Amino acid sequence: MAHTASVKLDDKEYPLPVLEGTEGEKAIDIRKLRSDTGFICYDQGFGNTGSCESAITFLDGENGILRHRGIPIEQLAHDSDFVETSYLVIYGDLPNAVKRKEFGMRLRQNAAIETQMQRVFEGFPKDAPPMAMLSSIVASLAAHYPQLATNNFEKDLANFDLAAAMAISKVRTIGAMIYRYQKGLPHVFPKQDLPFCENFLHMMFSEPYKDYVAEPEVARALNLLFLLHTDHEQNCSTATVRTVGSSAANLFTSLSAGICALSGPLHGGANVSVVQMLQSIHDEHDDGTRFIAAAKLGTKGNRLMGFGHAVYKNFDPRAKIIGKACEDVLNKLGIKDPLLDIARKLEQAALKDDYFLSRKLYPKVDFYSGIIMRALGIPTSMFTVMFAIGRTPGWIANWHEVAANPKGRIYRPRQIYVGPVKRDYVPMAQRT
Ligand code: CMC
Repeated sequence: MAHTASVKLDDKEYPLPVLEGTEGEKAIDIRKLRSDTGFICYDQGFGNTGSCESAITFLDGENGILRHRGIPIEQLAHDSDFVETSYLVIYGDLPNAVKRKEFGMRLRQNAAIETQMQRVFEGFPKDAPPMAMLSSIVASLAAHYPQLATNNFEKDLANFDLAAAMAISKVRTIGAMIYRYQKGLPHVFPKQDLPFCENFLHMMFSEPYKDYVAEPEVARALNLLFLLHTDHEQNCSTATVRTVGSSAANLFTSLSAGICALSGPLHGGANVSVVQMLQSIHDEHDDGTRFIAAAKLGTKGNRLMGFGHAVYKNFDPRAKIIGKACEDVLNKLGIKDPLLDIARKLEQAALKDDYFLSRKLYPKVDFYSGIIMRALGIPTSMFTVMFAIGRTPGWIANWHEVAANPKGRIYRPRQIYVGPVKRDYVPMAQRT
C-alpha cells in the first residue's frame, strides 16, 4: 500500500512526500516544510532524521542486521578480508581478480610516510593522546599532497583512487608510527611484499635486526577486527565526515574530522571503557555480580559498558562474530585472559536479566574487541586508533557519495533559538 503523509498546522493541512528505501525503510520528506509552513522539525541529536540517501550500508537495529552493499556482515566476516571488504564498501561491488590486484598494489605502493612528513611527529609530546596525533597527522596529508586535496569535487574525484588508497594505507602506517613514537622506538618502514595486516604488525612490533613475523591466527584476527569496523551507517564520525565533505572539503581533511569525532568516549572510545570496566571488576575480585547489581541502578556512571546502543535494539551481529573469534584466538595463542571470563559472565548474567532484556540492552562489538586487541599485544591507548584504521574505508565511501552527488547540498541544520531576546550593548563603564 502506498503511504501518504501530511502535517496539519492549525486548520491547514500540508501534504508531505513519502520516500522508501530499497529495504523498505520509510521516511517523510520534510525538505519543503519550512518554506511551505514556516516550521522546522526538532530532532535533537538527529536520532530520527535521515540526513542523506546512501547505498553503502544497511543497518536494521531492531533485527540485528548489518549489510555492506547488500552483503551480510556474517558472510564478509567468514569469506572476505579487510582489503576486499574495503573495496566493496568504497566501489560498490566485490572486485574481480584484476581489480583486487590493482587495489592491493595501490595500497602497497602508498604505505610509506615520506621523510618530510615523518618530521611532523617530532612536534608532538611523547605522551600526546594517540587520536589527537592521528587526526592532526591525517589532516597534514592535505598539506603534503595538495594535488589530491584541492577542495574542488571535480578535481578531487579525478584523483579519488589514489587518494583513497593513500588514506587507507597511510592511516595504518601513521597508527603504527604513533605507537612506536610514544614508546621511543624508531620507525619501522612498511614492506611492499607483506599483506595489509601483516604489514601493520610488522611496523608495530619489529625489533632491531628482528622482523616481527605474524602468526596466521594473529593476522586473521586483526583482519577480522578491521573488517568488522569497516562501516556502520550514519554514526557520529561518519556523519561528521559527510558534514565536512559537504562543504567541498577534500578527503583527507574530512577524514581528519571523522577521527576527531571518533575519539570521544561515547563513540570510538567505548572499547577502552569496556576493558577498564572489566579490569576494575577483576581488581575488585568481583565475578561481575556486584557490577551488574550496580548497573541496574540506572546511574550513568555505573553502566555496563559495551552494552546498549543507540540503534541496535537486538544483538549487534558484529558482537556475535567477534565474541566467538575472541575465544578462538585466545585458545589458538594459548592465552588465558581473566577479562574474557568476566566478559562472558557479564554477558550471560545480563542476557538472563529482565532489566537488560526489557530495555533491549545487548552486547556490542566493543564488548569483545578490546579483549582481542589485548591478545594481539595492542595497548589500550591504541584501541581507538585501531577502530579508526578499520573505519577509514567507510568514511571514504561516504565522502565519495557526498562528493559525487550532483544534487548534494552543504549540511546546514537549523536550530530552535532559546537565548536572550534582542537587547542593547552595554559599554564597559556601565557594566556591574
Ligand atoms: N547499562 C545499564 N543500563 C543501561 C545501559 C547500560 N549499558 N544502557 C542503557 N541503560 C538503561 C538506562 O539507564 C535507561 O534505563 P531507564 O529506562 O530505567 O531510565 C534505559 O536503559 C535506556 O537508556 P538510554 O540512555 O535512554 O538509551 P540509549 O539507547 O539512548 O543509549 C547508549 C544508548 C549507548 C548511550 C547506552 O546504552 C550506554 O550508555 N551504553 C553504555 C556505554 C557504551 O557502551 N557506549 C558506547 C556506545 S557505541 C556508540 C558508537 O560508537 O556509535
